[in-house]
Amino acid sequence: MRLQRFPIRSLIALVLACSKISWISAQSPLPYDVVYSWKKIDFQFKSPEHKTEAIKSGEYIPEIATASGIKVSGDRIFITVARWRAGAPASLAYVPYNRTMGPQPMKEPLLIPYPSWEFNEGGNCAVLQYAQSMEIDQFSRMWVIDAGRRNIFDKSPDNKCPPKLLLLDLKTDQVIHSHEFPAEVVGRTSNFLNDLVVGCTSEKNCMVYISDSVDAKIIAFDFSTDKSWFVQHPSMKADPDALKFTILGTNYTFDIAVNGIALSNKDRNFDTVYYCSLSGVDVYSVAVATIKQAGASKQPGVQLKDSDVTHIGKKDSQSDGMTIDANGIMYYGDIGHNAIKSWNTNEGKMTDANQKIVAQNDNDLQWVDTFSIDTDGHMFVTPSRLHRHFTDTLDFSDTNFRVVRFFINSENYMYSKMDPLT
Ligand SMILES: *[C@@H]1O[C@H](CO)[C@@H](O)[C@H](O)[C@H]1NC(C)=O
Ligand SMILES: *[C@@H]1O[C@H](CO)[C@@H](O)[C@H](O)[C@H]1NC(C)=O
Repeated sequence: MRLQRFPIRSLIALVLACSKISWISAQSPLPYDVVYSWKKIDFQFKSPEHKTEAIKSGEYIPEIATASGIKVSGDRIFITVARWRAGAPASLAYVPYNRTMGPQPMKEPLLIPYPSWEFNEGGNCAVLQYAQSMEIDQFSRMWVIDAGRRNIFDKSPDNKCPPKLLLLDLKTDQVIHSHEFPAEVVGRTSNFLNDLVVGCTSEKNCMVYISDSVDAKIIAFDFSTDKSWFVQHPSMKADPDALKFTILGTNYTFDIAVNGIALSNKDRNFDTVYYCSLSGVDVYSVAVATIKQAGASKQPGVQLKDSDVTHIGKKDSQSDGMTIDANGIMYYGDIGHNAIKSWNTNEGKMTDANQKIVAQNDNDLQWVDTFSIDTDGHMFVTPSRLHRHFTDTLDFSDTNFRVVRFFINSENYMYSKMDPLT
């Protein structure tokens, strides 16, 4: 089925892409399916009264709720709803996923709060406050970063709750570990825990690396010792020369620090962390050995030396999330061109010649946000039109949020390229 469909769709995509854009080089983009789409994000409330009440109290503002993070596992697609501004009634949710579904899109599925409505209760510090992102490891466990803070881009953010890292078992939907970050490691009134990567060599031996997009640092967590610390370097800040985003002819200004983060794959022993600022076009890396060494210091954080950081290369424009697959291919958005690019990390350095276009579409791929790779060979992406969200220019009669699926015939970085798809 897939093999029959592939060449024709790929050819059509290539012709379309070539007719539209001049900067494309001779590479064939991958076909994709828009498997879910929404004009506005809505939830599966407990009852009609629950929804009415949530709208009345301002807990749910349909024009504010924004799908952002994505991770796929089995028959669920998990989605985060950012609590940048008041109006997101739950921050972590899922929609059902049929692993054998065809390319026909499912329109406007309701988001089901995960693991429950209660666990997403704002102002209750015992539960999740604001998850920008999560990651699912090879043991079917979900690592969720909770900034603790809510409505962080409102005039008066709610800083009542401490930031934490939660570990949930997807088999039982129970929280199996919670790590509260010390205030010296993650700021209580300033942090923007944004994205994370996880490298586990066994169920207990896991390292987690998290980007903090306001305090411009990378936080490390060692599960075996339940300890966290941070590393910092000027390369993690927003680049003053890359604050301007030009999307479909409109200029936007965003000043956001380190955001995209990726970990080298299992076959490279999870030995390198790659990162880039949202307001930036440069990709950098730091050795995991260097981050671990910083964790041995008595300080809550360490300022990295310039020699600890490697400049990997420059992208065509800014990107949000990025990820690496089992073969060592890095995927990332090219926000300025409504595109997705890829680069083989085994090449060492990123050049203009070795970055490939995976897909480009001015309508479907505006602001490619977060990536997920499942165990069936699919990559999922959430183009979220964040430039329109942040400037209050979304058109709610149009489709604004999508889950887009590609067949890349590979698993994520936690698996070896020798591992079979399951
Ligand atoms: C999943 O999708 C396939 C193909 O469209 C369909 O045959 C099957 O019934 C679906 N399964 C479920 C559980 O909906
Ligand atoms: C956007 O920025 C570019 C480069 O600085 C400038 O040439 C262009 O006029 C700007 N566009 C608008 C619509 O302001």
